[in-house]
Formats: sequence, C-alpha cells, structure tokens
Amino acid sequence: MSNIRLHDKSFRPFIDYEKIEEAIDQVAIKINNDFNGSKDVPVLLCVLNGSILFTAELMKRLTFNCEIVCIKLSSYVGMQSTGEVRDIIGMTGSVRGKRVIVVEDIIDSGRTIANLIKMMEANGATETRICTMLFKPGCYKLDKKIDYVGMNIPDDFIVGFGLDYDGLGRNFKDIYVLDNNMKYYILFGPPGAGKGTQAASMAERFNLCHISTGDLLRGEMAKGSELGLKAKALIEGGNLVPDEIVEGMIENKFNTVEGVSGFLLDGFPRTIAQAEALDRMLAKKGEKVSGVVSLMIPDEMIKERIRHRAAIEGRADDASDETIANRIKTYHEKTEPLVEFYKKTGAYNEIDGIGTIEEVRDRISALMEKI
Ligand code: AP5
Ligand code: MG
Repeated sequence: MSNIRLHDKSFRPFIDYEKIEEAIDQVAIKINNDFNGSKDVPVLLCVLNGSILFTAELMKRLTFNCEIVCIKLSSYVGMQSTGEVRDIIGMTGSVRGKRVIVVEDIIDSGRTIANLIKMMEANGATETRICTMLFKPGCYKLDKKIDYVGMNIPDDFIVGFGLDYDGLGRNFKDIYVLDNNMKYYILFGPPGAGKGTQAASMAERFNLCHISTGDLLRGEMAKGSELGLKAKALIEGGNLVPDEIVEGMIENKFNTVEGVSGFLLDGFPRTIAQAEALDRMLAKKGEKVSGVVSLMIPDEMIKERIRHRAAIEGRADDASDETIANRIKTYHEKTEPLVEFYKKTGAYNEIDGIGTIEEVRDRISALMEKI
C-alpha cells in the first residue's frame, strides 16, 4: 500500500482491510450473541455517509431478522467539527416500538451519539445501543458506554472505508491517516529574549517560514498603510494590537506560503485568545502545534538587551524606558499565561535564554530536532 492524495493532503496507510474485516467479525459475533433468538425485529440505524461500508459489511454477518433505517447528520466542515450537529435528512423509516442499534463509522467526542440517542427516544425507540467501527477513547466525553467497538484508535485524522476528507476517500477499502509532515513551531518568550535573533537560522536550518508578527506590523507601519497607522500608537505605547489583526496576518501566511516544511511563529500567539484561534486555524487543515520553544530570560536582562538594540536598530518601541517597562508588564499579564496553556497540551519546552547567541542557538536546534 502506498500514500494517497486527497485534495491538498497526503495520507499514509494505517489499517489494512484484513484487520478491518477481523474487527467486524468480532463485533458481529457479539451482536449475534445478544440478539439471536429474540422475537422482535431490531433496526440498524446507518449514520450516513460515513458508515455505509461498515453497515453493509456488518449486516452481511448478522444472523437474526433486522431492518435498516438511514439518517444523515453532520457536524463537520472540512476537517473541523463545528460543534453543532445538524439533522440533514430525516430517518428513512420508523423506529417506533423497536430496538435500535446505531451503526457509526467513528466516534470521537460522542456529540453526535448524544444527539442520536435523544432522537431515538423522541421517535419512540424502546432501546438504543451504539455500535462503532472506530473509537477514539482519548476524545470521548460522554458517560454512556459504547456497546460494540470494532477498534480503538488515537486522535488522528483518518480516511477510507467510508470516511472522507471533504467528500473524497470513502471508496478506499483500507484506512489511511493524515501524513502530517508540516511542522508548526512557536518561538515563545518575553520581549528581548532573542526570538528574532534565533529565528532566522532556525528557519534556514529546518526549511521553515519565519513569521514575526512584530516585523509584519513594523512593515505595515513603514508603508503607512491603514493597518500600520492603527498599530503605530499601540506598539509605541508598548501595548498589544487587537487579536483579529494578527490572526488575519498569520492565516494569510498559512494559506499563501508554499515550498516550506513548516512555520516558525515569533511573537504569536501572545494571548490565550490568539492561541485558541491558532488551534482553530490549524484544526481546519487537520494540523496542530508541533511544539513550543520558550526562551526564558529575567526581566533585568530584557531591559539591558533592548537598550542595546535601541542604539543599533532604532525601533520606536525600544526608545523609552517607559515603553519597555509597559511591554514587560503586558508580557507578564497577557502573554505569560500561555506557558500554562501549552504545558497542559504537552507542547511546551523551555530553554535557558542566557548565554551567547551561539550557545542559545545550539540549545534551540537540539530541541527542535527532537520535536
Ligand atoms: P515584537 O517585534 O514581537 O517584539 P517583542 O516580542 O517585544 O520581541 P522583541 O522583538 O523585542 O524581542 P526578540 O525576542 O525578538 O529579541 P531580539 O532577538 O530582537 O512585537 C512588537 C510589538 O508589536 C508588540 O509590542 C505589540 O505591540 C505588537 N505585536 C506583535 N505581535 C503581536 C501579537 N501577536 N498580538 C498583538 N500585538 C502584537 O533580541 C533582542 C536584543 O538582544 C537584540 O539586540 C539581540 O542582538 C540581543 N540578543 C539576542 N540574543 C542574545 C544573547 N544570547 N546574548 C546577548 N544579546 C542577545
Ligand atoms: Mg523580535
């Protein structure tokens, strides 16, 4: 088996058809044990479109009388769940007075299942059991136990055997996983920590696009654009510009830069809201933050380094002690909470930013090799 390409993404082989068949055999044995000999005619509820193949394969193996009803729901646009489950077409038959086995291709958060259980109750089903081909235990948020599970899988984006990426991939009989080789690094740290100094060599070494929101904003200010004018007063006062402005800049880069192995973000995200927006932008592409490289130096050294830079580069926000002090304050208040945010996701890595430029560079390089 080799990689497949769907739209803009590459997927590598993950679960072969033989394993899928074995898992379906096992699920069918359990369901037959529970339902063989019963006098009623249970309904298999095929949740379109994803579970078409699974339902067909499962049904062939069932040895008691059963009916099939289909329903179509959706909470996905592209690769991202919108959080809202919509009933697109109603049920193709009645479940009133019947036992229902909901047949799903995949269960992650369980949001769809919770809705289906309520729908079945409202439509007069006497019992609802849940059967799924694939289950992501790490994402599941309901108390309800899944009655029949084909296979547990990690939280990866997969296609094939009924599952799609924006409409394509359902016809493959094997299952493929997103071949996620794009890297998204965050170079984090207080003002003057050395982010800009180190970013260029890291970008070259790892073939990354370096995005410094500070540089982009200074570029807009130099052009005298509307955005630049808006940002000028805020930057020169040592305050942050509004989240939407920088988020738009970042997304624009993600969507237009080609020929790189990933991105190195410098100065973004700087607030929890920006970090959440970044997660959403990446989730739409089936991607996530690869790692945070945090450069830490004490406040006194920040001041020293910025004063030194002021003499060389003449950046307006380096000009007065008051602005520098406000940037440090803004960092502690608005940006430092991201340390805890990324510790929770497991993406956080801290590096001692004290030492020569070369020493710090080697530390960052060694860490990025590992991520
Ligand atoms: P931005 O340009 O990102 O500024 P910053 O975060 O304050 O960071 P700096 O660029 O000052 O520091 P750096 O870590 O890059 O350090 P450098 O390598 O230059 O943002 C500017 C403004 O834009 C913000 O204040 C905000 O208003 C706005 N903005 C930007 N992004 C935003 C966002 N996401 N949301 C909202 N607003 C946003 O190093 C500093 C100096 O130290 C240099 O002179 C360097 O040569 C020297 N140095 C570096 N390493 C060493 C070393 N190891 N030893 C000795 N000297 C060193
Ligand atoms: Mg910088």
